[in-house]
Amino acid sequence: MTLDLLAIRDDLVSIAKLLGDTIKTKSGGVTFEDKKNSVDLVTEVDKAVEALVVEILNEKYPDFDFLGEETYVPGVSVISDRPTFIVDPIDGTTNFIHRFPNACISLGLAVNKEPVVGVIYNPFLEQLYSGAKGLGSYLNGQRLPLVPNTRKLTLQGSLCGIEWGADRDNENYRVKLSTFDNLAKKDGGYVHGFRSMGSAALNLGMVASGAMDSYWEGGCFAWDVCAGWIILSEAGGTIVNGNPGTDNCSLTTRTYLAVRGAQRQEQTEYIRAYKSQIT
Ligand code: IPD
Repeated sequence: MTLDLLAIRDDLVSIAKLLGDTIKTKSGGVTFEDKKNSVDLVTEVDKAVEALVVEILNEKYPDFDFLGEETYVPGVSVISDRPTFIVDPIDGTTNFIHRFPNACISLGLAVNKEPVVGVIYNPFLEQLYSGAKGLGSYLNGQRLPLVPNTRKLTLQGSLCGIEWGADRDNENYRVKLSTFDNLAKKDGGYVHGFRSMGSAALNLGMVASGAMDSYWEGGCFAWDVCAGWIILSEAGGTIVNGNPGTDNCSLTTRTYLAVRGAQRQEQTEYIRAYKSQIT
């Protein structure tokens, strides 16, 4: 099956803008519930927006599969080789609840389990990221990365996207804390600083644009990364397995390290240096 990725991207842009406006209109005073714990949150808006995405996509693409954060059933929902829309209706739900203006709708398409189209829209700051395999990626119509990759990519002096995530009391959390500590020290990475967008998709967008050098997180799901993955790749960035060891990764790896566009050798050295600090 040959897909018109450009047409799909444009459809996803229209949906993101339409539903982004809905998200913006509904912000303020939303009620929320816990999911797996008290820092993993969902609102009625997340659920309503996902239902609308399903309705719109089913009508336009009845033969495509769908995986969404709010309708995911562990052990039952899987990503097949068929064209699959992978959707987070609101990525940055905690920001949305607090009215911190970093929340977005993230719409991805994977084929053969590989991301091929991505659209991320933050309606609060009117940031629209889009990308499609072989067709480049854009922020509000401007080609990514926003500036040429002339600044050398090195761990020392880099600006690193990180997240606390929702796991706060297990081995994953301990590894995060010790790694942040290592990266901040002179004998470790001695990075310039850490930034948290509070949204995996927007972290990936920042790395794609070149505003952050990397983003590392354990605990992501496919809907957190699918759209951002292709946007980053088309901007010359790369995303690898964020665990020590192999760089191979897929949409179900859960732990990722994303680095901005740069010479391949610089990216490889950055990844090696970063992973040496994961303890
Ligand atoms: C979360 C956000 C957060 C990241 C978590 C995600 P949600 O998604 O992207 O920044 O740390 O791993 O689950 O719950 O806001 O859709």
